[in-house]
Amino acid sequence: MSKIINNEKDHGQPHILVVDDEETLRYLIREGVERSGYGCSVASDGFEALKILEEKGADVVISDIMMPGMDGIELARRIKEEHDADVILVTGFADEYSYDRVIEIGVSDFLEKPIGIDELILRLRRVLRERTNIRERNRAEKELRGSLKKLRTAMESIVEAMVLAIEKRDPYTSGHQKRVATLAGAIAKEMGLSQDQIDGVRMAGMIHDIGKNAIPGQILSKPGKLTELEMGMMKEHSQIGCDILKGIEFPWPVAQMVLQHHERIDGSGYPQGLLGNETYLGAKILAVADVVEAMASHRPYRAAVGLDKAMEEISKHRGILYDPDVVDAGLKLLREKGFEF
Ligand SMILES: [Fe+2]
Repeated sequence: MSKIINNEKDHGQPHILVVDDEETLRYLIREGVERSGYGCSVASDGFEALKILEEKGADVVISDIMMPGMDGIELARRIKEEHDADVILVTGFADEYSYDRVIEIGVSDFLEKPIGIDELILRLRRVLRERTNIRERNRAEKELRGSLKKLRTAMESIVEAMVLAIEKRDPYTSGHQKRVATLAGAIAKEMGLSQDQIDGVRMAGMIHDIGKNAIPGQILSKPGKLTELEMGMMKEHSQIGCDILKGIEFPWPVAQMVLQHHERIDGSGYPQGLLGNETYLGAKILAVADVVEAMASHRPYRAAVGLDKAMEEISKHRGILYDPDVVDAGLKLLREKGFEF
């Protein structure tokens, strides 16, 4: 539970809570704090301090360590767990506490008694300054995260629009890219890739056949087998896709993954005949997802071959055409986890 600090209601003036079982010291510090223009509350022990924090919060708590009931170390720990306040600890027995241990709890500063009020106020100012800096940095980071999220959403919408444009022209593979993207993303996840990598693979999957936009419609929807010439033209879609996308600065190598999605790890794929170790992992994932999806669904020139045949195809060529880890993850999803497009 994090508390909202109450300094706003005190006309923007920071509020300090002083905790000490010694009354004289408590008031001496309070006087110094108030003279410096800060609001101040006092508490004579840890329990009272927590109650005040609960009720009205504070920006900084200045606390003694040796106190009956709850010592300053325990109080500091509870404050760091339950409240959004900085802590400065003060002790007459500094030798008994290691600086590292105190700082480890999250305490901002540590002073030895007898304390000079001027020194304490200087340290308090530094803690308040850092607090303001951190708060401003957090606010800036939050704004930046918000802008990045908006940009990402815009990028996704643009990609969706591109997908729609392709599918308008090639209704037969309508949905193919989306389903490949879904399966490729699930395989990437199954392989333990980071969320960022998963997002990249999914994005490349969404537009991996964008180059088909440049292929004549009668080839795309031709029932029956393609001639060698037509097949040659069809194969150009990987390079065309890459050419279309390479000017876009995606946060992932989308153009390269699209270029390589028909490569096979033994070098028998196209357009470059790359080997497994020369191909992006994302492209190897797309290759498997593409084959499985294509076999599992209908095409103008043939009925669906079926998911069983698709699984047979990737197992048979595991480690030959397709990356073995990608195949294993894909089979696990389809066989054991009941993956559905
Ligand atoms: Fe393709």
